[in-house]
Amino acid sequence: YRIAVLASGRGSNLQAILDAITTGRLDAQVAGVFSDRPAAPALERARAARIPAFAAEPRDFGSRDAHEAELFGHVARAEPDLVVCAGYMRLIGAATVEAWTGRMVNIHPSLLPAFKGLHTHRQALQAGVAEHGCSVHYVTAELDGGPVVSQARVPVLPGDDEPALAARVLGREHPLLVATLRLLVSRRVQLGPSGVLLDGEPL
Ligand code: GRF
Repeated sequence: YRIAVLASGRGSNLQAILDAITTGRLDAQVAGVFSDRPAAPALERARAARIPAFAAEPRDFGSRDAHEAELFGHVARAEPDLVVCAGYMRLIGAATVEAWTGRMVNIHPSLLPAFKGLHTHRQALQAGVAEHGCSVHYVTAELDGGPVVSQARVPVLPGDDEPALAARVLGREHPLLVATLRLLVSRRVQLGPSGVLLDGEPL
């Protein structure tokens, strides 16, 4: 089972996938790591694991579509069964999303549908919620709007600032992502016509 990972930054979620594969908890292989930032530390983690790493810098392209076509052309050539957006910080266009429907998931640091977009921990603190967390969802044309596969919850504690809350959520992202990928690799979970199916039944 081949996984392509898209990342723009630190790559701790990518590392969680790599570690799960190394320790035998995830029966898959990372076919490649792809980024919009050549300097992304996530690419270094790929190289350290002897995994193909490719980056396409948006400013080298005349349009968003041209950049996306280049990046996803390389993704396609890796022949992944699944594309995992793990801290990929660019909106993916409708044509690409359509081409990968049901085969692309994203991990987002909030309890969707709450707090879509950026600065989710700041949004949660400003909203004064008692609970926050992270979600793995299928990618659709709506930013952070696709069918949710799994979620993990954390308490918001008195005195929490953005870094503290972000760290607590990140600590749950890694096991959530690995557990969700185990389900996807097992093919027990898939995207049906009107949402997520577990063993063929609507969740
Ligand atoms: C994670 O919090 C993820 O939920 C969000 O961006 C962050 C990526 O972190 N989309 P990392 O690059 O995986 O460490």
